[in-house]
Amino acid sequence: MKTIFSGIQPSGTLTLGNYIGALKQFVDLQNEYDCYFCIVDQHAITVPQDRLELRKNIKSLAALYIAAGIDPSKATIFIQSEVPAHAQAGWMMQCISYIGELERMTQFKDKSAGKEAVSAGLLTYPPLMVADILLYNTDIVPVGDDQKQHIELTRDLAERFNKKYNDIFKIPEAHIPKVGARIMSLQDPTKKMSKSDPNSKSFIALLDDPKVIEKKIKSAVTDSEGVVKYDVENKPGISNLLSIYSILGGMSIADIEKKYEGKGYGDFKADLAQVVVGALKPLQDRYYELIKSEELDVLLDQGAEKANKTARKMLKKMENAMGLGRKR
Ligand code: AQP
Repeated sequence: MKTIFSGIQPSGTLTLGNYIGALKQFVDLQNEYDCYFCIVDQHAITVPQDRLELRKNIKSLAALYIAAGIDPSKATIFIQSEVPAHAQAGWMMQCISYIGELERMTQFKDKSAGKEAVSAGLLTYPPLMVADILLYNTDIVPVGDDQKQHIELTRDLAERFNKKYNDIFKIPEAHIPKVGARIMSLQDPTKKMSKSDPNSKSFIALLDDPKVIEKKIKSAVTDSEGVVKYDVENKPGISNLLSIYSILGGMSIADIEKKYEGKGYGDFKADLAQVVVGALKPLQDRYYELIKSEELDVLLDQGAEKANKTARKMLKKMENAMGLGRKR
């Protein structure tokens, strides 16, 4: 059976972007692959985090994974910092990466732009992500479009390591959804929707109340043409809303365009709000059940045990290939 690895940062409440770009794919793929879904808390600390908030977000993300439909009896769900091999292998991958290639990462450029103090971790986290993926002999990495460059780096570093030391890594591939690979901000549809955006009107959080969802969609930036038509270049706002409608409502974009022919944005937005609220309702209900139960800790302990076992084996191979420690 082929293996899937992917992770999400516990850096805030997940958005519709995270759901459509990542989480929904995880659920769709879990029956066909041996899956490892990680809560990448070590990535989250590349930017400042409040420690109590971080702890809360870690548990909340675990609950969201399951509430969205990941079945812990099929997939391994675990917290990155509870599997020390990630940081150890991450260091090795840092030592074979070049500063130039890390400085060229668009996420680094975006997140460091205009900041006076940027942590070294923000520059060096892509090799940690490379290690996350390679430790599990991963074939496929389901991600949104913004992670494409990091998966390219993963492939480059795996090949570099295989050539320089020993041929131990598979070369993984990205799995990016055809529609909704990049859900855009509701307030600036030229920018991707992000959970750490300081303007909460720019994203729909998976746990937003129905009233809040309605308000956010109502105030989503569109254009003055009043025609519901998919045209990313000239109508990025409406096109983004159409993608969300299509994925969550299970209708093709062409059919949605037809349905709203001659109608204004008001009707379209009101219906879209209902589609989003309806799609999130079962997830929210399950989330609130899970978050107060003790089930989560048990599942995360089991996940950490299984992930540690798999990751340790690959770490040993890496150490032997590089000549670290004593041969065992
Ligand atoms: N807007 C998006 N559209 C589609 N997919 C998206 N993803 C993120 N935003 C969108 C996908 O979600 C997964 C988890 O991402 P992450 O938390 O590891 O980091 P990120 O890509 O930096 O996501 P955010 O929401 O923008 O987080 P912050 O604000 O903390 O940086 C990835 O598969 C990503 O592609």
